[in-house]
Amino acid sequence: MSNIEYVIKLGGSAITKKDSPMTPNIEVIENIAFELSKLKHLPSMIIVYGGGSFGHFAAKKYLKNGKLKDCIGVSEVRCAMLSLAKIISEKFLKYGVPIFPISSSSIFFTTNDELKYFLNPLELSLKHNMIPILGGDVIIDELNDFKILSGDRIASMLAIRFNAKALIFGTDVDGIIINGRILSKVKFSEINSLLPKIGNSKYDVTGGMVGKLLEIKDYLGKGGKTSIIFNITRPGLLTKLLIGEEIICTRVDAN
Ligand code: IPE
Repeated sequence: MSNIEYVIKLGGSAITKKDSPMTPNIEVIENIAFELSKLKHLPSMIIVYGGGSFGHFAAKKYLKNGKLKDCIGVSEVRCAMLSLAKIISEKFLKYGVPIFPISSSSIFFTTNDELKYFLNPLELSLKHNMIPILGGDVIIDELNDFKILSGDRIASMLAIRFNAKALIFGTDVDGIIINGRILSKVKFSEINSLLPKIGNSKYDVTGGMVGKLLEIKDYLGKGGKTSIIFNITRPGLLTKLLIGEEIICTRVDAN
């Protein structure tokens, strides 16, 4: 497996308008593409996007006790994520960012909750200096029903597999906020005590900020280096982060 610099997760709450079904936040998507296109050195990276008002909206209609059994519901979630993929891909292309869109449902599946995958196309696209881009999705379980695979899970798993130097979460908030204060640094050992203090959103079927922190915990526990949560809706911050400047964010380190 080749090593990469970053895995960047574009949060659904940033790239879509979460209170309005199937509505992209074009301004934010275009700004991300614009900032990447202006970098002097485009780092090696994988981009993962969340479902936002596309995937979550469709999934919420059909999920029962965390399970998705209805085949039409599965098709609907898939189609919603395909629509979002098309919108993001076209905007990245407009700014000349060399993306290679991949459908997560075609490379991931589960066997009784164990995630299985076929990463060759992703790895080859990196080898050819492209940026693989893939999203949270509905995936098939070999033995049971269908599952929602979150972009956070995909991002954390790929950051380990490709030995990324950072796992970055671009969200619509400035980091982990507790009692109105942004936590700029969090240690792995502090994660558990923070979880009960963080509120969750109702629109999210995959766990919101708590789910994200649990994912980061898993990532660091498996040897991940560092994870950053920042506000990608603020123009300029992505550029600063990628060129190594200080920004307002939460950084979670292994120790
Ligand atoms: C959810 O992905 C995917 C679907 C609902 C199909 P995420 O859980 O990563 O999405 P966001 O970032 O929270 O919107």
